[in-house]
Amino acid sequence: MADTDGNIDSHDYYIDTPQTAPTFPLKGCQSLDWGMKNRLANIFDPKTGRTVMLAVDHGYFMGPTTGLERIDVTINPLLPYANTLMCTRGILRSTTPPTFNKGIVLRASGGPSILKEMSNEHIAVDMEDALRLNISAVAVQVFIGGEYETQSVNNMTRLVDAGNRYGVPVLGVTAVGKQMVRDAKYMRLATRICAELGCSYVKTYYVEKDFDTVTAACPVPIVIAGGKKLPELDALTMAHNAIQQGAAGVDMGRNIFQSDAPTAMIQAVSKVVHEDMPPKEAFEYFETLKNA
Ligand code: R5P
Repeated sequence: MADTDGNIDSHDYYIDTPQTAPTFPLKGCQSLDWGMKNRLANIFDPKTGRTVMLAVDHGYFMGPTTGLERIDVTINPLLPYANTLMCTRGILRSTTPPTFNKGIVLRASGGPSILKEMSNEHIAVDMEDALRLNISAVAVQVFIGGEYETQSVNNMTRLVDAGNRYGVPVLGVTAVGKQMVRDAKYMRLATRICAELGCSYVKTYYVEKDFDTVTAACPVPIVIAGGKKLPELDALTMAHNAIQQGAAGVDMGRNIFQSDAPTAMIQAVSKVVHEDMPPKEAFEYFETLKNA
């Protein structure tokens, strides 16, 4: 029984102070349930509403690509600088320290390797196993215009239903086939379909022209993939342009882990994303860290 000696019979109910109703910082996510919002807050920094997702899931179709041959050696040291790690359950269980206490975005679709027709993916993770891994979101590749478009959209909607059952956000990853034009028109189509069909946020590629129309037409947050390795200043410029045109962050892989100085690069990307640092300044910051 609780000791009530010395209990003071005085209470302050703040009668004149209306209960606060803090707004959730992510676009289009106000109506989500608490658990879903809490998971998203493990991905997007609540102070900025933005994220630096470190993408290392490439092995699910590419095998040990350059920079990811030994994830324990090359990627784990970068974890302190990322808001979120995006990876497969195989890498998570085998290589990622369980003491990593930020968001995990779990790759949840897969099937064909780079040797086959890429759009022929299926759901590759059961939601129960994703929950067992304490993930913050699952990611599914969506091939709008691809040979297996409907199948990939069906993968997405099945994951959205499963995610809604348990409060798990789904990241729709728009994959652009080699034969398709990577322009704002295509990105508007692909991202909007993902959002309309229930994704909590969407990953796409940055396009030079009219990217702001892509973010404007998508009712939920957009993050950009980094794409193939660019010179560091170019990658920082791309991230900056995307953020200034409404992206809520990056899901960047090769431009970080294939950099000459990955630890410096992820910190420079973080400055661009969270502090709106201009690209030239961020590049100087990168060089300073690299040469320290
Ligand atoms: C595709 O392999 C994955 O979805 C990657 O996570 C995504 O492409 C981001 O990685 P990168 O910045 O290397 O394009």
